[in-house]
Amino acid sequence: MTRSTGDQSAITINSAIANRVSTRSYDVQPVAAEAITSCLEAARLAPSACNAQPWHFVVVTDPETRDELARLSLAPGGVMNRFVAEAPVIVAVVAERPNITSQIGAALKNKPFYLIDIGIAAEHFCLQATELGLGTCMIGWFAERKVRRLLGIPRGRRTVLLITLGRPADGATSRTAPAAEKSGSPHTLSGTDTPRRRKPLAAIASSRRYGQAWAEGLR
Ligand SMILES: Cc1cc2nc3c(=O)[nH]c(=O)nc-3n(C[C@H](O)[C@H](O)[C@H](O)COP(=O)(O)O)c2cc1C
Repeated sequence: MTRSTGDQSAITINSAIANRVSTRSYDVQPVAAEAITSCLEAARLAPSACNAQPWHFVVVTDPETRDELARLSLAPGGVMNRFVAEAPVIVAVVAERPNITSQIGAALKNKPFYLIDIGIAAEHFCLQATELGLGTCMIGWFAERKVRRLLGIPRGRRTVLLITLGRPADGATSRTAPAAEKSGSPHTLSGTDTPRRRKPLAAIASSRRYGQAWAEGLR
């Protein structure tokens, strides 16, 4: 993602947000190491409670380990997450122990800050991939303990997510900037040609009091 305060960066982030979708069909070609690094850099810059940065990314590209990860991601019935086997890159997002201030804050406020942090970092990763014309899908369903053993993740560390990464297969939704730019308004991120099943804004936003209809322009 471009770091700039000018109008250009607004267009860039808008298009990445509008164009990111979960990609569930991948081309076999490998992803350049520079592109993976760029996604990792985007994740590295994510905000986190007390700047704890409680994450570690294990990048898997070798076919044997990917196959095993794909197997460990299959849901009963073998349909959900079958596409994981197609992805040329699978990234395991591991939760590291947060710093003490984040731990204390999370305990006092009863909020799992580390999970929030990891979600943000994962989305940074995915948005950067979108900007590079790559597809991603976050995977929450997998056999965590077996993944931990497979990847040599230390005991006691949670593996929160897998992220598949690769060039979308022909016909799969490959999102690049132009669609969002066509949409024009930064408020309606409807730039994709894929239907987005989302709650309407009126259902997720209120003005001043919970449940009071959101109206743009209210002070
Ligand atoms: C925490 C999390 C876990 C997810 N786990 C899975 C998963 O196991 N398998 C899958 O196919 N998609 C998974 N997804 C993708 C969601 O299904 C997807 O983001 C959602 O349906 C919205 O679609 P979109 O990403 O194309 O906008 C997950 C997404 C998140 C954020």
